[in-house]
Amino acid sequence: MDKKYSPIGVFDSGLGGLTVVKDLLEYLPNEDIVFFGDTARVPYGGRSRETITAYVREDIDFLMQHSVKAVVIACNTADSMARAAVEKDYDVPMVGVVIPAAKKAAAVTRNGRVGVIGTKATVESRAYETAMAEFAPRVRVFPVACPLLAPLVEEGRFHKGDPVVDRVLSDYLEPLKAKDVDTLILGCTHYPLLYDSIAAIMPQTELICSGPASTEALIDLLDRNELRNDSGKPGSIQYYVSDAPARFAENGGKFIGREIHGSVTLVSPKVPSIQ
Ligand code: DGL
Repeated sequence: MDKKYSPIGVFDSGLGGLTVVKDLLEYLPNEDIVFFGDTARVPYGGRSRETITAYVREDIDFLMQHSVKAVVIACNTADSMARAAVEKDYDVPMVGVVIPAAKKAAAVTRNGRVGVIGTKATVESRAYETAMAEFAPRVRVFPVACPLLAPLVEEGRFHKGDPVVDRVLSDYLEPLKAKDVDTLILGCTHYPLLYDSIAAIMPQTELICSGPASTEALIDLLDRNELRNDSGKPGSIQYYVSDAPARFAENGGKFIGREIHGSVTLVSPKVPSIQ
């Protein structure tokens, strides 16, 4: 079969990657997608580089079982901590979230001061500083680790006006307001669910999400490699998780902006494989 008709593999530690899938569905409606959410081991963001790298290898190995034509690392933590170590071991092009979001922020900022919020691991990796130093060395990056946000979102605590969320966000965002950033990268794919709450606290700040930025990068990659599905048929999506498929189906709709139709398949958490 022509490789261009193979699916695109997408993974995240949990539900967050669905915010990227939302944009893929909108801008690449003819592509088949295989999504893996490592719901048994979420969150990744407080773990060591060694552990995250081991998990990421297993996530990609699982997607490779579906003969994917490209992999979207829909997790800033995985992209920041593990991509450099694992990418060379796979014969498939990969798109992450860090470089596309950094490029977008560099294009948008007017005062050259860009904030980044992300998991502890993402901030420790300095991936955004490294990317910006390469593409826009004059832009200063101000990163803040927000370890409580992804777990809150996974627990369904993301509604605007939730007092717990507002309190936690104020604590994390106050230092960035003081730094006068005019652009803020939501450097975790869980955070678009908090978009309205963040925008309410930082109304003058341009917010950059992973989804649109990495979708643009993926379209470019597919076109350059002549991998775009040109069948004209609507694409399909298959969901796989390593724990609690019913909860994923129930909560995932809020991430993706539409009901999760069809089944969500449970696969083994340790070495994900088709059962
Ligand atoms: N969605 C992941 C990211 O973009 C983070 C969640 C986690 O800590 O696993 O970084």
